[in-house]
Amino acid sequence: MAVPTRAWCFELPKADVHVHLEGCIPVDLLEAAARAQGVDLPVLDESRGLDGLLEHLDASCRLLVDPGLVAELGSRFARRCTWDGIVTADVIFNPTHWPAWDGRLGEFVDALDRGMSDAEADGHPPVRLLPSVKRDQSAEAALALVDAMVALGHPRVVGLSIDGNEAAAGPTGERFRPAFERAAEAGFHRAVHAGESSGPDGVRDAIDLLMAERVDHGVRAVEDPALVAELAARGIPLDVCPTSNLTLGLYPILHSHPVDELRRAGVRVALGTDDPELLGGDLTHEYHSTAAAFGWDHGTVAEVARTSIEVSFAPDELKAELLAELDAFVARAAVEG
Ligand code: ADE
Ligand code: ZN
Repeated sequence: MAVPTRAWCFELPKADVHVHLEGCIPVDLLEAAARAQGVDLPVLDESRGLDGLLEHLDASCRLLVDPGLVAELGSRFARRCTWDGIVTADVIFNPTHWPAWDGRLGEFVDALDRGMSDAEADGHPPVRLLPSVKRDQSAEAALALVDAMVALGHPRVVGLSIDGNEAAAGPTGERFRPAFERAAEAGFHRAVHAGESSGPDGVRDAIDLLMAERVDHGVRAVEDPALVAELAARGIPLDVCPTSNLTLGLYPILHSHPVDELRRAGVRVALGTDDPELLGGDLTHEYHSTAAAFGWDHGTVAEVARTSIEVSFAPDELKAELLAELDAFVARAAVEG
């Protein structure tokens, strides 16, 4: 059975629903920020796994103090989507990585929004923002973030995320439950990192305590068959980032990654890039390399792309439009062979 080519995976309309703004800073932009601050460019030490990554995000994002550079980052993010065949994205950003913007969520969002709106006016894809709590924060800090999101009422900010290192923080579902409840009451979507640095228990907390509509990563759910069956039965999607998991040492090779086992067990899976400028890859690569590793045919790859659009936090009309685009691409590609 033929595996789709990289060109086919590029053209396939797909959403990136697991991507961090902090992991998408183009190196020239970071260089400009470092130069302006008179400091050396921070360098990621991949061998230090997730903690090394999180420290690197602190070191790099603290350099972007200029609203013009943040606007540029927003614009470059949306433009990057186009060259990766991404038709829409939900972008996570974590205010703890951006100390220069502490207490200025509105100004930060305005700067990003300016760049993203400019890019959209040039025909690049629509992008939404998910502010994120860090696992080592307090319950009060998480509630304060939700309150700031509510007060801001910015249409680009559509959901609450949580990320960081669960292994270091320990079980924190109960700590963050009030913030996620408040976010849900205010009409925000919820995406929860779990089952990467935590095992299946973290995924269970995500769906039972934090009302996750999507689980970011979630791959270690595979270690608990009852949980896998529940994710499948409840239709709770996992947005899985194989390249990130390999680079950060969760699995040694793609062939041992559980994404296909989860998919075959009936769990809805989408693929994401996580921190592509730092950990490698792009969304086209995630689709192509995963298809090649597991022998996915065109229909299976298109199904994963369909899931990515369906589970995105895009408005319903946009989803309908993008799904029609996907159907048209698949039909056209079948005719053209
Ligand atoms: N922040 C950025 N990338 C992350 C990841 N893979 N896990 C947890 N937090 C993150
Ligand atoms: Zn992530």
